[in-house]
Amino acid sequence: MNFAHAITIAAILTSILTSGGSCHKSCRSNASLMKSIQYQLKLVEDNDGKCDCNQSPSTPSSGKVGFQVSNSGSLKNIGNGAIVIYETVTTNLGKGYDKSTGVFTARVHGLYYFTWTVLTYAGKSFYTQLLLNDTIIARNHAGAGGMSTHMPSSQSAVLQMSKNDKVSIRIYNAGTYMIGDKWSTFSGFKI
Ligand SMILES: *[C@@H]1O[C@H](CO)[C@@H](O)[C@H](O)[C@H]1NC(C)=O
Ligand SMILES: *[C@@H]1O[C@H](CO)[C@@H](O)[C@H](O)[C@H]1NC(C)=O
Repeated sequence: MNFAHAITIAAILTSILTSGGSCHKSCRSNASLMKSIQYQLKLVEDNDGKCDCNQSPSTPSSGKVGFQVSNSGSLKNIGNGAIVIYETVTTNLGKGYDKSTGVFTARVHGLYYFTWTVLTYAGKSFYTQLLLNDTIIARNHAGAGGMSTHMPSSQSAVLQMSKNDKVSIRIYNAGTYMIGDKWSTFSGFKI
């Protein structure tokens, strides 16, 4: 039953229900039939255009994907080219983020939003790049060299991803100090 048919049937039932009131038993069944149709109409409306036939079984039935990760402790002297591993996982709907590697994998194709903030220590720096597989998409320059205060830096990216594409945060130059305890975070979701 498509949407237009459902509306037509719902309209006919509404007119049946509102005309005449001599039928207690059958009106009750009509009422529950009406309820069922209204419920199904709502499902059609809620899911209109949002069906994703390529969903893998690991994706929740809602189709929602989102993660929020950070580190409890600070990261110090991370070498050039290393992937930043955020070990504290607050949200990981769709299980795209892997805390053993620091890599987010798209389980379904689609449009995704990512953002990450680095707070570096006074006098230190922590430069990073957001990678889509091996391609640099955005750079983040948290540098507090010669400063007596900590410095934050944020970046974000909107990416069209295919299934199995990967996003990660990589150190460039040197990552001498990233402050943990929720000051530095990495998050993303499917739009
Ligand atoms: C709905 O109500 C009409 C009378 O108003 C009755 O003829 C019909 O059988 C009812 N339908 C159901 C499914 O109970
Ligand atoms: C990214 O890497 C994955 C495998 O790790 C591969 O399946 C996918 O096709 C790659 N995407 C691009 C755009 O190269």
